[in-house]
Amino acid sequence: MKPKVIITREVFDDAIDYLKHYCDVADNQADVPYTPEALAGKLANAQGLMCALTDRVDAALLAAAPQLKAVANIAVGYNNIDVPACTARGIQVTNTPGVLDDSTADLAFALMLATARRITEVESYIRNGEWTGWKLKQWLGVDVHHATLGIIGMGRIGQVIAKRAAGFDMKVIYHNRKRVAAEIEARAQAVYVSLDELFAQADFIILQMPYSPQTHHMIGAKELAKMKSSAILINATRGGVVDDKALIHALSNGVIRAAGLDVYEGEPKLDAGFLQLKNVVLAPHIGSSTEATRRAMAMTAAKNLAAALSGIVPPNLVNPDFRRSEVIS
Ligand code: DGY
Repeated sequence: MKPKVIITREVFDDAIDYLKHYCDVADNQADVPYTPEALAGKLANAQGLMCALTDRVDAALLAAAPQLKAVANIAVGYNNIDVPACTARGIQVTNTPGVLDDSTADLAFALMLATARRITEVESYIRNGEWTGWKLKQWLGVDVHHATLGIIGMGRIGQVIAKRAAGFDMKVIYHNRKRVAAEIEARAQAVYVSLDELFAQADFIILQMPYSPQTHHMIGAKELAKMKSSAILINATRGGVVDDKALIHALSNGVIRAAGLDVYEGEPKLDAGFLQLKNVVLAPHIGSSTEATRRAMAMTAAKNLAAALSGIVPPNLVNPDFRRSEVIS
């Protein structure tokens, strides 16, 4: 008998077709998100789960899923999943690294350019019919080219952001939990600095660290105060790495110049304070959202799940203790 898998959100048909070769698939192409209770009910007799960052896979859900063997997240970040609880239950967890690096870097860059050149402000100005003529000092922005970019989190996405920055003749400095290998620094043309040096020197700061209890509110009032008053902050990684209330206060009081945001604490709700501000460009968590990339993410998750349920170590296993393990049935 094929293992039963639950897909929690709408995905591309090719991912479902692929999974159907290996599994009995219950999809949700209507894309009405399941409540935790509804998902728990569906998992009562399922072996696999393909989920999104909108699904919380915690101990309570796992308790309702006695047969669960694998969870494939359709995202590179997996802070929605309690990995230690899964590991304790012998459940493999996978993510989708690699396939979204370039698209996510593009979006971070788009937010940086849009914020520097005030694209959303000027677009509203035109749409509102307010443009009556050219002026030398109209809508002055700041240059991205030749500016100093500080990247916090020099993983794969941080590295491809650095590659883009080279095309803009930017000076790239970075901070990472651990300094990256010399070859990576050389390829990224990036110089390792302390966090305080980064805050003091960067004209633009792009956040790329993953969200975890350790990075919760890593950027708060104290850190914002250390940035240049002309600095622009970009967060396209995860809500929660920034203290949104502190950011709103900093943006309202000239502590930093502007921010470009794709993610928020408690999204999809966001602090109404952001909506009052002109110096913030807001996007609805679309970092990886191009058709090619989202399709690749869904297919990567499907392949991970099929492998995990076929007794093969899935390509993108994230439980650290499973890596060399034979704990696969
Ligand atoms: C990810 O993969 O973590 C992205 O945020 C999903 O869009």
